[in-house]
Amino acid sequence: MNEFKEKYGSWALITGASSGIGAAFAKELAGKGISLVLVARRKAVLDLKAAELQDVYGVEVKTVELDLTEDGAVEKLAEISKDIDIGLVIPNAGMITYGSFVKTPLEDQQKLLKLNIMVPMQMAHIFGQRLAKRGKGGIIMISSTFAYQAVPYFGNYAASKSYILYLAEALHYELADKGVKVVALSPGLTDTEMPGKIPMDFSKMPMKIMKPEAVVKTAFKGLSHDKSSIVAGGMNKMMAAMSQRMMTRSGVASMFGGMNKKAMDSEYI
Ligand SMILES: NC(=O)c1ccc[n+]([C@@H]2O[C@H](COP(=O)([O-])OP(=O)(O)OC[C@H]3O[C@@H](n4cnc5c(N)ncnc54)[C@H](OP(=O)(O)O)[C@@H]3O)[C@@H](O)[C@H]2O)c1
Repeated sequence: MNEFKEKYGSWALITGASSGIGAAFAKELAGKGISLVLVARRKAVLDLKAAELQDVYGVEVKTVELDLTEDGAVEKLAEISKDIDIGLVIPNAGMITYGSFVKTPLEDQQKLLKLNIMVPMQMAHIFGQRLAKRGKGGIIMISSTFAYQAVPYFGNYAASKSYILYLAEALHYELADKGVKVVALSPGLTDTEMPGKIPMDFSKMPMKIMKPEAVVKTAFKGLSHDKSSIVAGGMNKMMAAMSQRMMTRSGVASMFGGMNKKAMDSEYI
């Protein structure tokens, strides 16, 4: 048995595994010989990925078609996986809203809170209990570099990721003596479907886009170094540190607001 398997066990659960960072987690873990439960709404996409991972890495892969914003979704996930000895949990599925907060439908903002906050919180609670009972395991919570300051025109999204960062950092402490490692991963701009949906010229932003595979490797570095949180990418690390330590809170919010206002399609401002 390899060292990773010994630490966490043979199974991992990943939500939002049909694309982007979740799919990269699936590939990286399959490469480590870990069997997977993959969750998303697009079942056909998940099944294709599952077949490929089974084929290439010889691991077992179960797919679950689930809209996590539906009532009872996390309970359903707990029920489906109750006889699988899951050792690593990655509540990765997320959504973004953008543009002037008051122009966006309230319904979308509420859905975001459910998917980005309620669902990962419930998963951390339910699976955190299971892992603690088991005496070993890990939870990788997906935050963002947007968590490190207020971000006008992405206000609700950034706030949801701040919640995840602080919850993960607290759970890192609480669960450490139960043998469970918790880490918040904060990606910056990453080459996935998500930024592609935003009407914005990213070349006007002082950001370097990262590949999801590189982002995922950072999470495992965070786990192995027992960090409570980790930012992916050198430039992103510098920006996050600058936001928190070198500028006033209102100053950094104005800076992000100004940049987003310039780069976003004006009809959304
Ligand atoms: N890309 C970035 O620049 C960036 C930066 C910082 C943080 N992040 C975070 O990274 C995480 C992954 O995002 P990504 O960039 O990889 O974006 P993505 O490619 O759009 O992936 C999002 C995943 O979430 C799933 N999902 C969305 N809504 C869902 C729902 N209601 N129920 C179940 N699954 C749902 C999607 O699958 P289906 O559509 O098949 O359901 C997809 O697999 C998110 O938490 C995001 O906030 C991304």
